[in-house]
This record gives sequence, C-alpha cells and structure tokens, in this order.
Amino acid sequence: MTLLPGPRLVDRDRAHVWHPYTQMRTAPPPLPIVSGKGVYLYTEDGRRILDGISSWWVNIHGHSHPKLNDALMRQAQQLEHVMFAGCTHPAAVDLAERLVSILPRGLERVFYSDNGSTAVEVAVKLATQYWTNMGAPERRVFVTLHHAYHGDTVGAMSVSGDSVFTRAFTPLLFSVARAHAPYCYRCPVGLERASCHVECLGDIERALATLGDTAAAVLVEPMLQGAGGMIVWPAEFLAGVRRLCDRYGVLLIADEVLTGFGRTGRMFACEHGPVTPDIICLSKALTAGYLPLGATCTTEAVHDAFLSDDRSRAFFHGHSFTANPLACAVALASLALFEEDGVLERVRRLEAQLMAGLAPLRGLPAVGDVRVIGGVGAIELVAREDAPGAGGYLDEVGPRLAAAFLGRGLLLRPLGNVVYFMPPYVISEAETAWAIEQMAEVICAESPR
Ligand SMILES: Cc1ncc(COP(=O)(O)O)c(C=O)c1O
Repeated sequence: MTLLPGPRLVDRDRAHVWHPYTQMRTAPPPLPIVSGKGVYLYTEDGRRILDGISSWWVNIHGHSHPKLNDALMRQAQQLEHVMFAGCTHPAAVDLAERLVSILPRGLERVFYSDNGSTAVEVAVKLATQYWTNMGAPERRVFVTLHHAYHGDTVGAMSVSGDSVFTRAFTPLLFSVARAHAPYCYRCPVGLERASCHVECLGDIERALATLGDTAAAVLVEPMLQGAGGMIVWPAEFLAGVRRLCDRYGVLLIADEVLTGFGRTGRMFACEHGPVTPDIICLSKALTAGYLPLGATCTTEAVHDAFLSDDRSRAFFHGHSFTANPLACAVALASLALFEEDGVLERVRRLEAQLMAGLAPLRGLPAVGDVRVIGGVGAIELVAREDAPGAGGYLDEVGPRLAAAFLGRGLLLRPLGNVVYFMPPYVISEAETAWAIEQMAEVICAESPR
C-alpha cells in the first residue's frame, strides 16, 4: 500500500497561521524552511537558499552552530527557566558580567527583557521614571529622529518615525519631538556630505532648546538606522548627539538592537563616536539568533535613581521570561565565539569586500546611493515618481526584486526601494562575491526603467 503525501506545509500554514507585516490576501506563499546550516536555509522541496539578511538581522554565526547547540542543550539539562524577581541564576549573572566587560565604559547595570521592542520599552520607561525619581517629573518628552524604527509595541512605535509600521496606531501613540536624521543621500538641510559639518544636528539642538526642562532623553539608532532605510551616519553626528545631551542635561539612549554585536564593524556602534550612552538597548544578535532576549543596560547613575527605602520607587517592569536561562546560555556561548573565531576581524573583511563589490553599482541609472557599514551593504534605488508608494516601504519594486533574488537562491527582503544585504558573519568570500553578483544582475535588469 502506498501512503498518500499529506498536505504541504504551506497549505497547512495557509489554513491557520497569520504572518507579520503580511497582507494575507495577496502575499506569495511563505517559504517552507525545514532546516538551516551555516549561511543556508533548506526548504521542504529541497531548495538551498542563502540567508542574505541573517533571518531578520539576528543570526551572526550561521544556522545550527555546533557550539551554540551544545550550550543550549547543556543549559536545558541544568535549568530551563526560573522567574527573575526574587531569584537569580548563573547564566544571567555570567552574561551581565560579560556584557558589562565589553559595553562602552560606564554602562554597569543590565535589565533583561524579551526582544528588541521590549528593550526599547524598558529604556523609555526607565528614562521616564528616572526623571520622576530625580524630582523632575516634567521631563517626559523624548527627542527621536525621522526614519527611526524602534519596534512594534506602543511605546517603541511612539518613538519611531511616522511610517506604515505606525500609522494605523496613531491614536495610541504618545507625542515626541522629531528631529532630522543624517540621511546624507536626501540631506534634510540640502548640503553635500563632502563639504558639510553635520549641520543637520542643529535640529536636535532646536528641539532640546524648545523643550527646555520638559526634555527627557534623545533616543537614536547609532550609526545605522535600519528599518527606516539602512541609513548610514557620519560618526561626527553621533559624537554631536552626545555633546548636545550633555549640554542640555538629558539622557542619551542608544538603540543598538540592530547594531550591537559587531554589525557595524565594532562590537557596539557607539564605539564609532566614541560615546557612552546613559542607556543602551540590546537584542537580536545577543543570542546569535537562537532565542528571544533583550537587555537594557544603564549607567550606575541611572540605576541609583531607583534606590530608595520606598518600594514604590523601584522599576515596576518585568516579563514571564525575563533572563531566560536558555537564552542567556546561548548569548554567553555566542560572545565566546567572538574571541575564539576573530569575528570582528571577519566583519571588517566583509565590509571591505562589500565596499569594493557594491561600488560599481553606483554607475547604474536605477541606483541612487550605495551605503556600506560593517556587515551591511545597502543599495537605494532611484524612486520612480510615477509609481504609487514610490520611495517608501511599500514601493512595489521591493517584492518584485525579492522574488527575483529568491529565484536565484538568495533570500533578501528589500525595504521598499532599498535593497540590502546583511548576511551571517560566517559567510565566505566566495559566497559574498556570488551574492553581490546576484544583486548586481537583478538591479542591472531593473535599470532601464
Ligand atoms: C533598531 C531596532 N530597535 C528595535 C527593534 C525591535 O526589535 P524586535 O523585532 O525584536 O521587537 C528593531 C527590529 O528590527 C530594530 O531594528
């Protein structure tokens, strides 16, 4: 007797699953991924696909890494989870010690949560209560940047730029002061990077001067604004933001959910300034893409503002899975790999290859700008003025190019008209060269538009 095959994964998925950021009526079927190894993902129907965006920017050492698998299994046999109020455990303490030893000097306290959005929510709530505890409750307005993306929870959306990610939820959001980002390709103050002196910083200064004693903090994605279009900053802008925060006496919050753990070529993007923020948000590559974990780390001064004999001044925030031991154990194993495998050096080589390999694309008529930092290469296509949604996340060119890349075995997810490549750091030179070739050919075909 021959057994009939059961329904395919995609058909079963279609019956009950609701996917993120997905128009369930028109989206193409999801990729049925059944395994992963190194930079490759494998589908149910036997295709091998290069993970060109590190599974949403989280996977840095490749899929199913033997040392990370091992760390996870060992921790599972020891302690899978315990609540984190009133309890502690070795993996959380070891990880906090390790993070403090590599973070910009001065960041001494680690508050765990679940993901990037919660790491930002925690930062926003910490900054708010910090000022209340300091006797300045009127300091509650955040200065954030245009094109910012800080996550999808309500607080994280409020501090993000206005976009398709936030617009449907406007009635829920609190108001913030928004200032220019250093988006050099579309300079907000009409200057050229080669001759400017980051005059765009003036907008943050104006916001801080206007807000006066009501400003709480400036919140930025240092050096690389990710979901807003892979916007790479001049380091002077970052240093300038720190100076302004000091001048106006407000906190600096660095959202390094994307940039942390080597993505920009330094362990943390703040090192490019170099600056030490008062609060830093970490997630994504913290666990090398294995498990959700967030960490919001602060200076001792921020932490000390919560110390009191009055229990109500404590920070009332937590999650069921705060400091999950499995996630902490994998994070520790991931950080050990940075040293064992010379990971930052590898990212620098990747950066050099991306710079050299993507530079020729600047000459194509369809290409407006090419931006590279660390392990990220982005190509902003010229927006077609006659197309609906042109030049934004909903630009129809994005899904069309994604399908073309996928047909060639390369998984990319353009942000509208911004194509970007952000592979796991373990990618080989030959694999990077191959991916650059695919991007060049597909974008070339796009050129006579
Ligand atoms: C800079 C930044 N902050 C926060 C987030 C939100 O992280 P999560 O998707 O884990 O909630 C993201 C996600 O892309 C991000 O890029």
